[in-house]
Amino acid sequence: MIRDNTALPNEEDICLLESINSKDILRIAKNHNGKLGGLITILGDIQSEYGYLPEISFRIIADETGVPLVDIYGVATFYRSFSLKPQGKHLVCVCLGTACHVRRATMVVEELERQLGIKVGQTTSDGEFTLETVNCLGACAIGPVVTVDGRYFSKVDTTKVKAILEKVQAGLLEDEESLAAASDG
Ligand code: FES
Repeated sequence: MIRDNTALPNEEDICLLESINSKDILRIAKNHNGKLGGLITILGDIQSEYGYLPEISFRIIADETGVPLVDIYGVATFYRSFSLKPQGKHLVCVCLGTACHVRRATMVVEELERQLGIKVGQTTSDGEFTLETVNCLGACAIGPVVTVDGRYFSKVDTTKVKAILEKVQAGLLEDEESLAAASDG
């Protein structure tokens, strides 16, 4: 018998390929279905679980909740906190809003790209870092601002990039004093 290699993969195959547990996604969808803000909560929980929103999860959510795929996709792409691509263990965001831009935030981006060996929007091959830019992080007075996994680094210039990355890799992100040292020192 000739195997049809052109056939589209089924849901089970896709989950296997992407290391996704469809039962887990179904459980999350059932937990919040019908509640106020349910869809956003469902997407938030899946994002927390997998670090991104696997495409297959949209189908599972649509089946469970009855929300059309186009609406789920619309919400998932509207909020910056959701990602449709797998992200690195650490998310580095550089603010390129006006206040940070005039303080040379683009040079910080270039330095991060150089040290990580990736461009904005990409993830390092070891899966450690994803680099993104945003328009304003709401802390204009202390710019240029960089966040790593939601923690703020203030007045960042190119000379501080290496220290920040080293502290993150050393697992010191929870240490507020070390962050202050990296930001202000
Ligand atoms: S412009 Fe960078 S924090 Fe507002």
